[in-house]
Order: sequence, then C-alpha cells, then structure tokens
Amino acid sequence: MTALQTGWPYFSYRDSELHIEDVPVAQVAEATGTPVYVYSRAALEERFDSLAQAFAGVRHLVCYSVKANSNLAVLRTFARRGGGFDIVSAGELYRVERAGGDLTKVVYSGVGKSPEEVRAALRAGILLFNVESLGELEMLDQVAAREGRVASIALRINPDVDPQTHPYIATGLKKSKFGVPMAQAVDAYDRARHFRHLRVIGLDCHIGSQLVDLAPFCDALQRIRDLWDRLIRDGYELKLLDIGGGLGIRYRDETPPSFTEYAATVIRSLQPFSETIVLEPGRSLVGNAGVLLTRVRYLKDTGEKTFVIVDAAMNDLLRPSLYGSYQEILLVRATNHHEKTTVDVVGPVCESGDFIARDRELPRVRPGDLLAVMSAGAYGFAMASNYNTRPRAAEVLVNGSAFAVVRTRETYQDLVRGETIPSWLD
Ligand code: LLP
Repeated sequence: MTALQTGWPYFSYRDSELHIEDVPVAQVAEATGTPVYVYSRAALEERFDSLAQAFAGVRHLVCYSVKANSNLAVLRTFARRGGGFDIVSAGELYRVERAGGDLTKVVYSGVGKSPEEVRAALRAGILLFNVESLGELEMLDQVAAREGRVASIALRINPDVDPQTHPYIATGLKKSKFGVPMAQAVDAYDRARHFRHLRVIGLDCHIGSQLVDLAPFCDALQRIRDLWDRLIRDGYELKLLDIGGGLGIRYRDETPPSFTEYAATVIRSLQPFSETIVLEPGRSLVGNAGVLLTRVRYLKDTGEKTFVIVDAAMNDLLRPSLYGSYQEILLVRATNHHEKTTVDVVGPVCESGDFIARDRELPRVRPGDLLAVMSAGAYGFAMASNYNTRPRAAEVLVNGSAFAVVRTRETYQDLVRGETIPSWLD
C-alpha cells in the first residue's frame, strides 16, 4: 500500500483513496450520503493537547469557542480533555450542558445577551461573564439580584489595535461593535465595582479571527497588560485574563504560527504574570480537523466557463460565498491525470453567489466523483442554513478505523417543524 500525506494531519491517501485516520472517506459517503461533514477525533484531540502543552508552564484554561463547531460529540471530545467553553448564547450553554461539559469552566461573551440568557447562565454557575457594555452591566446586576446571586465578571475591552498597521484584521476595531473602547475602560471598571451583585474578577479581549501573524496579538496584549497593571494599582483583585481566540490556520498557503510560537509570544508579552490566562480558541482547534464531502452531479461548459455542479451549496458551507474565502478541494480518489482544468465548483442553490470555489484548477472530474472540501471543521456546519429548503448535512466523527454519525441528515419533516397553516386559510 502506498500512503501519501495531504498536508492535513490525519488525512492521507492510501492506495489513491483519501482516508481520515484509518477510514476511507468514500465509505462514509456510502453510509450517509452526501453532503456530509466528517471530523477526525484524533485531529481534534491532537490540537487540544498541543495547545494545552504549549501553555503548560503557566496557569491557563482552554475554553473552546463553541460557535466554531458546536456538535455535541465535538464538545464532548474537548470536555473529556478537561476543556472549558466559550459561549455566546444560552443555546450554546444548553449544548455544553448536553455534552457533559463542566459549566464552572464556561465563559460567556457577546454584545447582546438577554436577561433570560443571563439568568440561565447564572443558574448554571458559569465561571465568567465577559460584559461588553454599561447597559449590560446594569442588566446583569439586576438579574443577579433577583436570583440572589453574584455574577463574576470581566469587561471586554477593545484594545483598538491599529487596523492600518495590520490590515489583515478583518474587524476595523475602532468601528467595531465589540467590547468597551480602551479610552472608556477605567471608567467602566469604576462603574462595575459599585454594583452589589457583580464581582469584578477579570479582563477580557478578543481582536479578530484567522490571524496568521503574531504582531497584532503582541500589540493588543501589551495594551491589555498595561490596563491590567493599572487596575491592580487601583485595587481590583483580578484573577482571570481572557485573551480571546483568533489564531489562524492554513487554508491554502498561509503560514500561521504554531501553538508553541503563539504561547511563547503570549507569555513573553505578559510576563511576569501569575494569574490564570483564559484562551478562547475556535478555528485553530477544529478547522483542519474536518472536511465537507460532496459529490459531483453535473458538468456544464458554457463556453465562458466550466461549472462543476456538486450537491453541497452555500447553505452547507457559507464561507466562500460570504467572505470569498478559499477552501482547498481534493479528489477523494486521486487520479494519475495531471492535466488540470479551471472550473467553478458550484452548488444547486439559486444564487449566483452560490459557489464553493471559483476559477479553481482541478484535475478532471466526472459526475459521481467525490470531492473533499478541506479545512471545513470550523464555521462550516455551524453556519449552515436551510435556504432553498435544503436539509442540513449529516455529521460524522471518525475514531481510528471506526466512525459514527454524530448528527443525522435533516428530514423534510424537520424542516417544517413548528410551522402551521391558520384555519382561516382553509
Ligand atoms: N472569542 C470571541 C469573543 C469570538 O468572537 C470568537 C470568534 C472566538 C473567540 C473564536 O475565534 P477563532 O479562534 O475561531 O478565530 N465565521 C467566521 C469567523 C467568525 C469569528 C467570530 N468570533 C469565519 O468563518 O471565518
């Protein structure tokens, strides 16, 4: 048997067939149909462990950012390794609970928390609320008072890392809706400390996603560190420094820092530091642990372009349509034909913006061929919708030479659940 690495750990060609760990992916497609998301347990665990290892020398807590991939089996995988969770809704809290996650290791971020959501999180006894505005402080204090509880909080501070110097940060931070502006930070803390049902125990920031350079992290951490020191001088007893997520991955030819390099930079930027560093990684833990499998339905040559029409669409994987982002595409059965053609890989959805890849050089494919859209483990299924009344895909977790369906494909009944036709339309 000949084995060939793909560049994605745990994804390899054996005898020209793409495998995830020891499972031929074609076998998964046979069992579940397509489109289907497939994740590697070993890849998830390896990412979690190597991040934890990189920070082993300092007090830290890895709170996996649930929004990146919220499948219960993925959450359980991290919960079993001792991970905490970063949530942005009571829906995500519910998922963490259902997955058996430790609720005392949950941090709750987001600009628009509702009183009901906050109450659920208080009752669950979460570790930390990352508060993003003065209005939210007031609301949280009121809800905590009604519940007879004290909420542990950090303020999310927008460190205003100059997007001019770092244009690859997608969020122009000055204009960003997130966090409290650095200029208002000290005042906001002074307000927070006077609420009777809030306990100020931390400082939080998150500067953006898919960062493939350490410089913006350095800038942000230096500013945050200065603020931390100022707050300590002002008498705050801060215990948790939440530095958010955002570390990028390789989709194409990016060279993101390793966890070791990332950790070294964080630790160096903060030292000396003896309190707990909270991390909120999403993409860097799950992104390259998953693929979207899709089957070619038709080829269409319009004279202008060649379209490869597949059974996955923007409702399954939104990133190319929404951000114009690049996702590598591999043939599940490698061919010896080295001749490539330039094609658009598109789905069945009725939008010109429905594409998985544009002007992509691919080996010749035929109807029925299986394609693997790589790096689809983060913000893939999590951003899927039912547009065009398309059932959302199945999800599968590979475990060595075995695999399990961890979410069945939706049925048409699922799609109309909750809808009713009023009697006056009889
Ligand atoms: N913490 C906070 C407060 C966040 O807002 C995010 C992501 C994370 C942690 C996790 O960031 P990560 O480590 O995954 O970069 N849908 C986009 C990404 C949106 C990220 C939103 N916030 C995409 O597909 O690229």
